[in-house]
Amino acid sequence: MPIQYSEELRLFRLATPNTAYFFHINEGGFLIHDYYGEILPMCDLRSASARIGKASFSPRSADLTTVPETAPQEYSCNGTGDYRISALQIRESRGNAATDIRYVSHKVYPGKPAIQGQPATYGTDEETTTLEVLTEDGVTGARITLYYTVFEQQDAISRRVKAENNSEKVMDLERIYSLCVEIPFGNWELGHLYGSWAKERTFERKEIPHGITAIESKRGSSSHHHNPFAAIVDKNTSEDTGAAYGFNLVYSSNFSIQVEKDYDGDLRLIMGINPTDFGWRLEPGEAFETPEGIMVFSKDGLGGMSRIFHKLYRNNLCRGPWKTKKRPLLINNWEGTYFNFDEEKIFNIAKDAGELGVEMLVLDDGWFGACNNDKAGLGDWFVNEEKLKGGLSNLSERIHGLGMKFGLWFEPEMINPDSDLFRAHPDWCLQVENRPMSIGRTQYVLDMSREDVRDYLFKCMDDILNTAQIEYVKWDFNRNLTEVASFLLPAERQKEMFHRYVLGVYDLLDRLMTAHPDLLLEGCSGGGGRFDPAMLYYSPQIWTSDDTDAMERLDIQYGTSICYPTSAISSHVSVCPNHQTKRTVPLRTRGDVALAGSFGYELDMTKMSEAEKEEVREQVKEYHKYYDVIHFGDLYRVIPPNGEECAWIYVSEDKSEALLTFVCIRNHPQIRRTVHFRGLDPNKNYADEQGTVLPGSAWMNIGVNYPKSMADGTTFKVYLSEIQ
Ligand code: DGJ
Repeated sequence: MPIQYSEELRLFRLATPNTAYFFHINEGGFLIHDYYGEILPMCDLRSASARIGKASFSPRSADLTTVPETAPQEYSCNGTGDYRISALQIRESRGNAATDIRYVSHKVYPGKPAIQGQPATYGTDEETTTLEVLTEDGVTGARITLYYTVFEQQDAISRRVKAENNSEKVMDLERIYSLCVEIPFGNWELGHLYGSWAKERTFERKEIPHGITAIESKRGSSSHHHNPFAAIVDKNTSEDTGAAYGFNLVYSSNFSIQVEKDYDGDLRLIMGINPTDFGWRLEPGEAFETPEGIMVFSKDGLGGMSRIFHKLYRNNLCRGPWKTKKRPLLINNWEGTYFNFDEEKIFNIAKDAGELGVEMLVLDDGWFGACNNDKAGLGDWFVNEEKLKGGLSNLSERIHGLGMKFGLWFEPEMINPDSDLFRAHPDWCLQVENRPMSIGRTQYVLDMSREDVRDYLFKCMDDILNTAQIEYVKWDFNRNLTEVASFLLPAERQKEMFHRYVLGVYDLLDRLMTAHPDLLLEGCSGGGGRFDPAMLYYSPQIWTSDDTDAMERLDIQYGTSICYPTSAISSHVSVCPNHQTKRTVPLRTRGDVALAGSFGYELDMTKMSEAEKEEVREQVKEYHKYYDVIHFGDLYRVIPPNGEECAWIYVSEDKSEALLTFVCIRNHPQIRRTVHFRGLDPNKNYADEQGTVLPGSAWMNIGVNYPKSMADGTTFKVYLSEIQ
C-alpha cells in the first residue's frame, strides 16, 4: 500500500519501494511530521516527533495542544508561534500575516493530477497514488491543500500546494512554498549546485551551520548561478553509500531553498517560489497552485540519489516521442560560423557532416530579421533573405536532400531595440514606466505575461515551422530579467509578474509543442542558465554550457549529473584551441566526453583534415553502438573529476552491457590507475572488446588497470557485453 492512513492513530504513511514518509494529525488538528527516510512498516511513530521543551519563551497554541516552535510541522506557518522558516504566509484583508492551518479532511486516489498551466511529473494510475490533505485557517477562510504523490516503483515523492480563498474578503499570498520537510536528527551536510555562465552546476558540499542557509535565484530564471536542487547528506555519505536526500523544484523562475538548523540540531528544509519579489492576490473564490517539488531518498549515497532522479525524469517528466526515440546526431553551426554565414556555407557544413554520418544540421542564431550580430533583429522572426537567398524552405529542402534533418534556433522571449517589433510595440517589453530599461546583450525582455505577445510569438514560430521542414528547435534565453512590470496589471498585482512571466513561457511552450508534437525541442539559456526540471518537461535535452572545452565539461557534466539524466545533457565536440579556454585537447577525448550526453558537433566540418574526419567516422560508429547504454543506462560516477583523473560507467538496466570511460587529466609516471566496475550482475559473464571474459564480480572487484603511458587529456574506454 503506497499510502496508508490509520484512523485510530490519525497517522499517514507514504511508502515507495525503499523509503517511507510519516505524519499525523494531533489533537489540535495540527499536521505533525514524524519521519522521512529508509523504509519502515506502519507503526505508531507519533512519539518520534515529540520534542522536549527547549527554546526559551516558546508560546503554545491557544488550544494548548502544540508548541509550534518545537513541533516538527508538516507545513510551517508564519506568525503563530513557529519562529523558524515558514512555508506559508498569508496577509489577510485586515493587514496582518498571522497564519495557522488545521486539518479538515483528506482523500487518497490512484494517479496524479496535472497542475493547471504548469509542467510537472506525471504517472499512470498503476504507477502513482496521490494523497490530498485539506486544511483551513479557521480565522481567514484560507483553504490550503497539500498534495503528495507517491511513485510506486521509484523512491520519489512529489509535493505541491494549492491555496483557495474561501472567504468574502481579499487575501494576499506572501510565501507559499511547495514543500516543507523536517529531517531527522543527524550530522547533515548540504549539497548544492552553484556556478556562472560557462561554469554551471559546480557541486559543493558543506556542513550545515546553525541558522538559515539559502540557495536562491531572483533573476527570473532558475539561473547559471544556483540550481533549484539541494541534497541533504550525512557527513559520511559517499558516492556509493550513506543517506542522501535530494530535493528539486520543477520551476524555471525565482526559486528558494532554505534550510534552518536550530540550536538543538533539528533541521527543516523548505523549497518553492522565492518570496522575494513575489506575491499573489486571491479574490474570494480564487485559487493558486504552486509548482511541484520532488523529494527522493537513497541509502546508496549520492550515486543512488542521482539514479532515482535520472530514472524519474527520463520516464515521468520528459514527454513526447523523443523521450524514447533515438535522437539525431547533430551538427550546430554556432561555434563554426557565429553570425557570419550564408546559405552556401551552411549547406557545405551540412554536406561534409552528412558524409561522415551526422544526421541533422542545426542553424543557430542570425538567420532572421536584420540580424548580423547580436545588436539587431531579435523579435523579427522572418527569414533574412540576404543571408539565405531562397529562404528557410529552400535551405531545409537542400539539407533534406542530403538525407539529413534540419533544426533552427529561436530566442522567443527577447527583443532588440533595433527591431521592427520594438519600433511597433515598445510597450511589449518588461518595463517600469519612467524608469530607464536595463539592457543585457543589447536586448530587452518581452512581457511574456501578455497574451498578445504570446500570440505574436506563436504565430511567427508556427508559420516558420509550417513553411519549412524543421524537426528540431533550440529555444535560447540570453539575459536575466530587470524592471519586471507589465502595463496590463494593476499596481496591487505587479508583484505577481515574475510568476506570471514564467507561466507565459510555459503557455507558449505548451502551444508550440501541442501544435508540433513531433518536434525535438532543445532548451538553452546562454548555455545552461535554465537547466531545470520544468524545462525538461518541454525539451528532453538542454544545452548544458557555452563552455565546450572537454576538460571543463568534465566538471560541468559531473555537477549536472548529480540531479539530471545523461539524455538531457547536450554535449558537443568543438574545435581546438577551444574558443572559451584556448585549450587543446585531442579530438578523441572531446568525442568521449561529449558522448556522456546528448551528442553532437559544433564546428565547421569543411575545415577538418582527413585524419580528423576519420576520427569523426569512428565517433559516429561509437555514438550508435553505445547510444542505448548511455541514454537509458544507470550512471556510476566512479571517479568524480579531481584535477588528476575522472571516470564514469553506464550499465544498462538489464545489466547486459556496460561502458566505462576513464580520463587521464594529468599523468604521473609510475602511478597505477585502477578503476572498478560497478552495477554489474556479479553472476553474469562479461566480455570486453579484446575478448577477455570474466564474471561481473571479477570486473567489479579486480577492476581494470590503465596504461601508464597515457598522456594528459587522453581517454580510455572499456565496453563490456554479457556472454551467455
Ligand atoms: C547562447 C547559446 O548558449 C549558444 O549556443 C548560441 O546559441 C548563442 N546563444 C547564440 O546567440
